[in-house]
Parts: sequence; structure tokens; C-alpha cells
Amino acid sequence: MEAPKRTPERTAYYKEIDGQNLAPLWEVLGALVTREPKTPTLPAIWKYKQVRPQVMRAGQLITAKEAERRVLVLENPGLRGQSCITHSLYAGLQLILPGEVAPSHRHAASALRFIIEGKGAYTSVDGEKTIMGEGDFVITPPWTFHDHGNESDRPMVWMDGLDVPLVNFLDTSFMETHPQEMQPLTRPVGDAPARYGQGVVPLGYVPTQKSSPVFNYPYARTREALDAMSKSGEWDACHGLKVQYINPVSGDYAMPTMATFMQLLPKGFKTSPYRSTDGMVYSPVEGRGRTVVGDTVLEWEPRDVFVVPSWMQHHHEADEEAVLFSFSDRPVQQKLALWREQRGNEPVVRSH
Ligand SMILES: [Fe+2]
Repeated sequence: MEAPKRTPERTAYYKEIDGQNLAPLWEVLGALVTREPKTPTLPAIWKYKQVRPQVMRAGQLITAKEAERRVLVLENPGLRGQSCITHSLYAGLQLILPGEVAPSHRHAASALRFIIEGKGAYTSVDGEKTIMGEGDFVITPPWTFHDHGNESDRPMVWMDGLDVPLVNFLDTSFMETHPQEMQPLTRPVGDAPARYGQGVVPLGYVPTQKSSPVFNYPYARTREALDAMSKSGEWDACHGLKVQYINPVSGDYAMPTMATFMQLLPKGFKTSPYRSTDGMVYSPVEGRGRTVVGDTVLEWEPRDVFVVPSWMQHHHEADEEAVLFSFSDRPVQQKLALWREQRGNEPVVRSH
């Protein structure tokens, strides 16, 4: 939609009303209400092999304590300077060296950790510690105190995924630090998975939050589930075998604002073209392959991070059996009846 022609009279009028904080809608309507999503987010990939040395250098320049969180933000090349990987989501690579502690704090934003490298560091959430390893998906629900520490003898790196850009867009950001560097632990390790993650809950349990009370989803269990499900040979043309992490208490996504997924692609599998309105952040755990997004080819391997922007048609090709973790803002879009998807040339399906 093109803006109507400018005439000297109209231009003079625009200038005059500008002083009263007024503007003509017809000049901007086409850019404001687009026929389909026009995101500034670009398809992009961060190769872990290239990024890791910079992450380790940060470890020599600043301590986790001084930085509060020693993280290299994965800035989308289309959104530089805005600390976001898609328009609505933040992602970064966090490093904790042996013996370090990232001090306890809490914030309105939800956070996820997806473990990229190492084993044995911990996250404490709301009085309970969980030990993390590669491929684990760990949740920090909104406004819960969390601190991280590394009691192993190796550096540990994970991807942080947060809804910070969304929270800030809504002007709903709150944050505070805990009076102690490490919050006191009130429950033993393994309490939450036993209490809520075994198909049972304590009698009379009433949920106290929207996020899943199971705050660590170990990779071994997810992988085992994918492996067992793959034996039925039911592959989705667009997704291979894709599962979504859920809050077992509600059946909803594991987090209120972010959806998380894990998918298995057999060796040689090429998915059919697909697009959805939620820009997706991926991190491969196993296998090698590529994702073709429009004209961009993203060649991936384990520990890389890549982005498929909103509404861009794409497909995956797996050279080896591959497992991909991903996350997006899908729960928000679906709750607001905004989410749409399209499989190949089939009609667009939208959420109500
Ligand atoms: Fe945090």
C-alpha cells in the first residue's frame, strides 16, 4: 500500500499538526499494518567453534561475580544493539568457570537454560538445586530467586533464553538481588522431579505458578522418549519427530511466555517447507545438517545456535541423525490469538 501523494498543502498541514504531536495515519498505514509479518530479524547462525574462544576470553577478563552474569549476548544481525535474538526474545551464552558463583537474583522475565557444554554445574531455583549437563533444559520461572555455580573442574557454558524484549515492550520489568550470594536451600536435590515429574503429585497439591514445577528436563529422558517414539516410524513431513516440553500439572507449555521443543530428524531426512509466525531459536544437540531459510543456508552442528525468523519459509536437511532443541514465543502468540502456521502450500492455519 503506497501513501497518498504529497501536495504542498498537505505537507504544510503535516508540519503544522506535527507541533501538536499529531500525525496523519495515511502516510504510515502501509508500514504499520502490513499484509504479512515484516520482521527485522534475520536468519543467522553462531558457530560454537568460532564463538567458544571469545566466550572463554570473557572468562579471563571478568569474573562471574563482577559481571553478575558473564554472558555474550547473541545479537541478531538485523537487531544489533537491542540485546535480542528475535524481536521478542533474548539469548546469550553464559560461562561459569570451576568454583565460580553467579549471585542470586530474581526478575519478572522468565528464563530458560539450555546446556551447551559441560556437566556438573548447578542452578538453584526457589530453594532447590539442580545439577545440569549437556542437552538439559532448565527453567527459572518469573520472580523466583536463582543462582548458578560450578562445582565441577571444567568450564560450563549454556544458552540463556529470556523473554526480556517482550517484558520490556510491555513495561513490566522488575528485578532484585538476594541478600545472600547463594540463596539458602530448603529442599534436597531431586525433590521437584520426584514431586511433580513422575506422573503423580502430592495429595492436595495446588499449583502456585504458571511455569512447570519440574524445573530441569534432563536430556537423557527426552532423548529416550524420542528414541522410543521413533520406533513407530511416524514422521511428520515438516518436523520429523518433534515434542514440546510441558508443565505436567497443567499440560500447557513448560513456561508461560516461551515454548520449548526437541525434535529428531533421521539421517537423510529432508523436511517439507514450513513457516509459523513465531521466530524460532535452535540449538542442535546431535548430528549435522542444514536449515534453508529463504535464500540463506545455515549449516549446523552440535552446540551451534541459529535463528529462523517469523513467517519465513524454511526446511531442515539432516546429513546424520540429528536432534534439535528450539524455543519461541508461541504461548504468547497463541494466547493472544495471533499465531499462524503454514505447511508447504497448504492453507494458513491460525489459532483462535
Ligand atoms: Fe537471572
